[in-house]
Formats: sequence, C-alpha cells, structure tokens
Amino acid sequence: MATLGQIVFWSIISSIIILAGAIALIIGFGISGTHSITVTALSSAGNIGDDGILSCTFEPDIKLSGIVIQWLKEGVTGLVHEFKEGKDDLSDQNEMFRGRTAVFADQVRVGNASLRLKDVRLTDAGTYKCHVLTANGKGNAGLEYKTGAFSIPEMDVDYNASSESFRCEAPRWFPQPTVVWTSQADQRANFSQVSDTSFELNSENVTMKVISILYNVTINNTYSCMIENNLAKATGDIKVTDSEIKRQSHLELLDSKASLRVSSFFAVGWVLLSLSSYLMLK
Ligand SMILES: *[C@@H]1O[C@H](CO)[C@@H](O)[C@H](O)[C@H]1NC(C)=O
Ligand SMILES: *[C@@H]1O[C@H](CO)[C@@H](O)[C@H](O)[C@H]1NC(C)=O
Ligand SMILES: *[C@@H]1O[C@H](CO)[C@@H](O)[C@H](O)[C@H]1NC(C)=O
Ligand SMILES: *[C@@H]1O[C@H](CO)[C@@H](O)[C@H](O)[C@H]1NC(C)=O
Ligand SMILES: *[C@@H]1O[C@H](CO)[C@@H](O)[C@H](O)[C@H]1NC(C)=O
Ligand SMILES: *[C@@H]1O[C@H](CO)[C@@H](O)[C@H](O)[C@H]1NC(C)=O
Repeated sequence: MATLGQIVFWSIISSIIILAGAIALIIGFGISGTHSITVTALSSAGNIGDDGILSCTFEPDIKLSGIVIQWLKEGVTGLVHEFKEGKDDLSDQNEMFRGRTAVFADQVRVGNASLRLKDVRLTDAGTYKCHVLTANGKGNAGLEYKTGAFSIPEMDVDYNASSESFRCEAPRWFPQPTVVWTSQADQRANFSQVSDTSFELNSENVTMKVISILYNVTINNTYSCMIENNLAKATGDIKVTDSEIKRQSHLELLDSKASLRVSSFFAVGWVLLSLSSYLMLK
C-alpha cells in the first residue's frame, strides 16, 4: 500500500529523472556538435546505359588522409564504394558495383564526396547513403536515385503522311511516357484525335523509341510535342513558314531535390543509455 507520502516522493523522483534526461539531451546535442559535420546529398535520376553521378558534399577538411567516404545502398550488403587514406578501398564492395564506381579523388579535399556510377542499370535505383568522416567529426545524408531512360525529341516534317504532318521522334524512354501535342495559335486545342503515338521496344528490351505523328498541321504555327514520364520532361517545337522550318528541343529532369541531414549518434546513444539505466533502477 502506497501512502500519500510515498506517492509524492516517487512523483518528485520521476520529475527529477525526466528533468535530468532533458538536460542530458541538451548537453548531449551540445557535445555532439563537435562530433558531427554537415553532409548534403542530392536526389537525381540516371539514364540507363549512361554514366551517372550521385551527388554528396560535406564541410571540407584540409587533411585528406583523415577523410573516409562510404557509400551504401539500402537493401544491398557491403558497400557501394569506400574511399579512405587518399585512395579507394574496395575490399568490402558489393559485386553489383564492381568496376563501375569512382569518387572524384581530386575534389574530395574541397568537400565533394560525389560518386560516379558507370553504365547505369535499371536496378541501380534506390536509396543511397553517403557517410563522411573527417578530423572534425562525422555525418551522413541520404538520396533517392531513380533510373530510367529519357532523350531529346527530334522534330521533322513527315513527308510520308497523306496530309501535312509533323513527326516527333525520341530514341530512348522508360518508363513509357505520355505524349501530348499543343499549338501556339490555339493553346486549348486537344490534338489526341489528330495524332498517332507509338512505342517501339529497343533491342535491349527495356527502353522504347517514341514516335508521334501530328496530322493536318497549318503553316506559320508553332506546334510542340511534350514527352513526359516520372523522371524527365522533354519538349520539341516545330514551325513551318513559307521560307523555312524552325525547330528546337529541350529536356529537363524532374524532381531533383536536396536532402540535408546532420547526424549525431554519439550523443543520442549516450542519452538513451543513461535514461534506460535510470528507468531500470526505478
Ligand atoms: C564534384 O566533382 C565532379 C567532378 O569535377 C563534378 O562533376 C560535380 O559536379 C561535383 N559535385 C559537386 C556537388 O560539387
Ligand atoms: C518514308 O517511307 C520510306 C519508304 O516507305 C521510308 O524508307 C522512310 O524511312 C519513311 N520516312 C519517314 C520519315 O518515315
Ligand atoms: C483530349 O481528348 C481526349 C479524348 O478525345 C481525352 O481523353 C483527353 O483527356 C483530352 N486531353 C486534354 C488535355 O483535355
Ligand atoms: C485531315 O484533314 C482532311 C481534310 O480536311 C480530313 O479528311 C482528314 O480526316 C484529316 N485527318 C485527320 C487525321 O484528322
Ligand atoms: C529481347 O526479347 C526478344 C524476344 O523476347 C529476345 O529474342 C531477345 O533475345 C531479347 N534481347 C535481349 C537483349 O534480352
Ligand atoms: C505566313 O507568314 C508570312 C509572313 O508572316 C506571310 O507572308 C504568309 O502569307 C503566311 N502564310 C500563311 C499561309 O498564312
């Protein structure tokens, strides 16, 4: 049977423990400030078959020999890449990355921990982590890497069609994109009934060639063909006048965003440890 006195006593003790925990947390973060560095990674998209870059930067440190960079991928054992004492250490590298990775060794000194990935594969997509250790402390940051295919469309007059037609053709896309035509003269026009889009699988059986024909076009008007999937958006413009054909194309990557995180495992670990020992005592 707990008396009122005992209840009061234990609630005071509990309050003191909680207060001590809060103070430990604050002090812990203060101490950890000297043990952690800021690492910043940038999500991006890779084009299958091309070389890609997984972007990561950190607070630079002049002592190159003390810098350790580790790249990890979620769900993959071992490392993607490791750089320490001024050179690569690939002894613990997962074999799916063998011969395909490199850091920019001459850029590490200025805080560039980015990873070059050769011959990007569809299966390279996923969550990556960039861990950096310097004489000033350590930190890590994560990024999402998406893979697929995207390419700039080529615009032309389709001389084979029975009516005046334009042709929009892009060699490599994956996943299958949407294709929409628009016209500058009539921006609300819906061309889905007067265009014809097809996708031809390329020989590696993943990426596809996109071909879209727009029928019944008129002179002196600019038409745009927009190809878009979850990775990229490409636009090709074409305009035929009495004297010339004007064309231009461009491509932009979608959804590349920075993610920033400062880690402080030491302090948090210590606080949890001291809190749990208090709770055990209780
Ligand atoms: C790191 O260095 C490489 C090679 O010079 C460069 O392409 C890349 O943009 C750099 N990354 C950052 C984040 O500065
Ligand atoms: C037009 O047709 C010819 C013969 O059928 C073909 O060789 C050519 O590639 C076609 N051109 C275009 C732009 O489709
Ligand atoms: C254009 O029309 C088609 C049906 O003809 C419809 O499915 C599509 O959503 C329309 N597109 C726009 C942008 O309104
Ligand atoms: C193009 O215009 C001609 C004549 O106006 C018409 O007969 C034909 O159906 C049109 N083609 C398409 C694909 O709408
Ligand atoms: C692509 O698929 C075709 C038919 O399924 C097959 O014959 C061919 O070997 C495949 N090519 C590759 C590179 O896998
Ligand atoms: C196209 O524009 C040019 C110059 O602006 C003009 O001379 C010509 O008549 C126009 N053609 C048509 C079919 O509208």
